[in-house]
Amino acid sequence: MRIFLDTANVDEIRRLAATGVIDGVTTNPTLLAQQGGDPLAVLKEICTIVQGDVSAEVVATQHEEMIAEARRLAALDPHIVVKIPMTAEGLRSIRVLSREGIRVNTTLIFTPIQALLAAKAGAYIVSPFVGRLDDIAHRGMQVIRQTVAIFRNYQVKTQVLVASIRHPLHVLEAARLGADIATMPTKVFEQLLKHPLTDIGLERFLKDWQSAGYGRIL
Ligand code: E4P
Repeated sequence: MRIFLDTANVDEIRRLAATGVIDGVTTNPTLLAQQGGDPLAVLKEICTIVQGDVSAEVVATQHEEMIAEARRLAALDPHIVVKIPMTAEGLRSIRVLSREGIRVNTTLIFTPIQALLAAKAGAYIVSPFVGRLDDIAHRGMQVIRQTVAIFRNYQVKTQVLVASIRHPLHVLEAARLGADIATMPTKVFEQLLKHPLTDIGLERFLKDWQSAGYGRIL
């Protein structure tokens, strides 16, 4: 499963990309607005750091304008994947863009059938939002389970990206279900690395080594 960071914070991306296990980044208008500055410059800088898929979302809602914005975003860097919302105008745009070779991540997906429609239109990625479904007492991961199963039934190549992740259990379930990608806030990624027994175990190893009078291995 590929792991993406769901943030537009350049410093955080640089710090966590150093782990070597970050495969890409997803942004959205909210995240770019929080970061401030020139959004297109921020996106270009993110592309230089991760060298993987970087999702950048259009803000137009009508077909012609969506296409124009998508072309502008895609021209920023070869790593850009254009996010298009799951609407009728969005589906029309996905069809045109995919035929031009522009990779599309269809965003704001909340049902497996929305995901199937986006895939039929030619999306490279579909993004069901699990946390926002959980927030309204629906089972977000159920949408992932059903989408992965439907795509398997028909050998659909479109990748399933688990979005709106809130905690490490969402990541575990995403991997168990065979999702292609999980995108997560930096806080959740950092939670994945940690276990108290790792910290306790390391402390004990180092203490025992030093107690025996040993120093650094050179
Ligand atoms: C995905 O690409 C979205 O940017 C994101 O996961 C939305 O998450 P939220 O529900 O925490 O805003």
